[in-house]
Parts: sequence; C-alpha cells; structure tokens
Amino acid sequence: MTAQSRFPLHDRPRLWGTAVSHYQVEGDDVCDWTEWERVGRTRGGACGPAVGSWQQYESDADLALQAGANAFRFSISWSRIEPRPGQYDDRALDRYRRLIDHLIDIDIEPIVTLFHYTHPSWFHEKTPWTSTRSIERFAHFTMRVADVLGDRVRLWMPLNEPLVFLLAGYFDGQIPPGISDPRLLPKVFDHLLAAHCAAAAAIRERVPGAAIGVAHNMMAFAPERGSSFLDRLLARVAHRCYNRGVLEAFATGRWDFLLPPTTRVRGRRDKLSDSIDFFGVNFYSRLHLRCPGKERLIGELRYRDASGRGLTDNGWEIVPHQLEEMLVEASAVGCPLIVSENGIADADDRMRSAFLAEHLAAIGRAESHGVPIHGYLYWSLLDNYEWLDGFGPKFGLYEVDRRTMARRPRPSIEVFRSLGQEFLGRGAVAGATSQ
Ligand code: FCB
Repeated sequence: MTAQSRFPLHDRPRLWGTAVSHYQVEGDDVCDWTEWERVGRTRGGACGPAVGSWQQYESDADLALQAGANAFRFSISWSRIEPRPGQYDDRALDRYRRLIDHLIDIDIEPIVTLFHYTHPSWFHEKTPWTSTRSIERFAHFTMRVADVLGDRVRLWMPLNEPLVFLLAGYFDGQIPPGISDPRLLPKVFDHLLAAHCAAAAAIRERVPGAAIGVAHNMMAFAPERGSSFLDRLLARVAHRCYNRGVLEAFATGRWDFLLPPTTRVRGRRDKLSDSIDFFGVNFYSRLHLRCPGKERLIGELRYRDASGRGLTDNGWEIVPHQLEEMLVEASAVGCPLIVSENGIADADDRMRSAFLAEHLAAIGRAESHGVPIHGYLYWSLLDNYEWLDGFGPKFGLYEVDRRTMARRPRPSIEVFRSLGQEFLGRGAVAGATSQ
C-alpha cells in the first residue's frame, strides 16, 4: 500500500486550525494533575477553572472558525469519562458530543486526542503504566468513546507525545506519576505503544474510514560549542533518542535507543507500523547541549537565541528552518504528516506574525522536497494553562481575561487567517529562504 492510499482522507481538503487539550482549557477536572497541584508540584499554581471551555466550547469553536480554521484538535478528558474504573459518565461524553456536533455544523473537522498527559485519579494506583492492565484500561476507555462519538469523528490521535510523557512522568518525575526510575522506561514505553495499538484497533473496528495518528514532539538539538566533540556527540544522541526513537517505532514496529547515560530503550510491537494513517509533528524549539555539564556530568540543556530572532516569553529559541528539517526527517515514517502543534508564547503579540509566516514558509520548503503535509494546527486557540508554568505563557490567538473569561483576538490573527487561506488554497507558502 502506498502512503497516500492509506490515508482515508487524502482526497479531502487539507486541514488548517488550532489545537487545545482538555485539561488546559476546560476547568475543574479532578484528576492526577489536580493532586499534583495540591501538593505544590507545579511552579505556576493550580489550573482551577482553566479558561472555562467546558462551559463555552461551542463559542470557542466559533472563534476558531473566525480565525479561518477548518479543523479543531482537542482532547477527551479520561477522568471525566471514567471517574471510577469501569464506570463511565455518559453526561461527559454527551458534552463532547455536543461540541463535535457543533464543529460539524460549522464545517470544522474534529480531531480527537484520547490521552493528553492527565489520568483519572485512580489510574496510577490501580492500573499503572508499568502494568499490562494499563493497556486494557486505555483500550476500554477508547472503545467507550468510539462507541459514542465514532459516527461523527474521523480523525483520531490516541496519544499525545508519548515520549515526553515517558520522560517527564517516569524519568525526571516532573509530572504525575512523578517517578524517577530509568529501569521502568522500556516497560512503560512498550505499554504506551501497545495502548496506542489497542486503541487504534478499537477505533478501526468501530469507525469505518477512521484516520489514526499520533502526536510526536520533535525538538531540534545543537551542540553548545560546535568545536566540542562531546557536545556534538550529546546532540546526536539526543536527536537519535528524542526524535528518531518514536519515528522508527512507528515506521518499523521496532525501537532501540539510548537515553543518556546508560538506559537502553528497546522493544518491538509488530502492529505499530500499520497502526497510523498520519503522523503528527509537534514542533516548538531547539535546545543547546553541553557536556560535561557544570552540575550534571552527562550534560546540560538550555535554550539560547542563536538564530537572532529573540526568545519567546517562556525563553524558547525560534528556529523555523528546523521545522523543515524535522518534517523531512518525519517523512521517513511513510504516511502524510500533520503539524499537530506549533506555536509561540508571546503576550504582546510582537513576534507571532513573523513566527507564523516563517514556520509556514518552512512547511512550504519541506513540501517542495516532496514531504506530504496534510495539515497545520496552531498551538493554541486561546491562552491556557501551560502545565508546570501555569497561566504564565500566552500562546493564544485569542487573549483570555481570566476574571471574566472573555476572549479577545490578538492582531496576528489576521496573519493566521491569510496564511490559512494560502495553505488551503494552493498548498503551503513557498519561497522564503532558510536561515
Ligand atoms: C506541548 C504540549 C501542549 C502544550 C505545548 C506548549 O508539548 O503537548 O500541551 O503545553 O507543548
């Protein structure tokens, strides 16, 4: 089968829109992250009512439409749907159904993510990712969602950023379940990918013509000192592990990478290579690596403004040309790509227009090398709760006043809209020079 013929939507218009995730916008969702906030593990405080999307999802969808979107990526809150193991809350599913009905009414394609970092409060105790029971639980949750929403949703992404979750949840221990044990990584990674496969099978069984994808965070890595062999080596190892490990897993059903200093993550799931119809690339920035580090022998990572565009509000480097490289790299997976997240924290909206134009130009160049790109989703529609950083970073096309929950477009929304018209109308914007 060719890559194109595997994608059931290949003859449909390309996708242009925004991405959000349930916990970051909905509000008052009790889950493992709420407990994390309660015990003070987030720098940026608690999410609380977030930006109130649970109450106003439909008008948020209208805002996406006004920004020129024909696609809307969002996620389903597992904790709302399955508040106790095996007990499902149909009212919560109905809430999502209303959103989806509305999206379809206004001609916006829903793209549904099933796992975007948070878990029901019971999960880590009863069926943790270290146990094979996690796979079954996730599959059952998926079945329930697909049974209720499957007649209306064609694009599904079971997992958002499995490797980021693995590293932050089980290596750094920065997010729930907050474990820091490299020995668990191979098993947890395997179970996450098995859960993806089980979810993909459950969706395909229930939703004829469904397109399945995964969102993979890709990060550019550079040596801090180009003259240092160790820095260069570390940057290569980081790229191999962080970017290529997941790509290879989905391309071949096998993975084998080294997480410095000594953890080898290796495994095989034959069904994986046939489990996706599109591959999502989440791309933001570049890290500079130095080895040995001052504090950690194995090395240090930091953002710095090597490209001269200035850093974003949360200190990230802006490197549009590296999106082009990542897309070329990701095309090895052999199916159409969607840029499933890309965005900038820029409260004053000074840099967002150029950010958008330069990243779309990079997409255009990747396409001119033959990379099949089916969509672009900006992170994010609204200012939202940015995990450990709380409400600090402002990624939104719309600014949110959290006292009134009022939304106001930032000026760059005009640029977003016109880039969208070009992207949808005649393929991606081409022609800008690479750095
Ligand atoms: C991505 C996450 C998303 C958001 C952006 C800024 O890695 O998927 O939830 O926080 O970063």
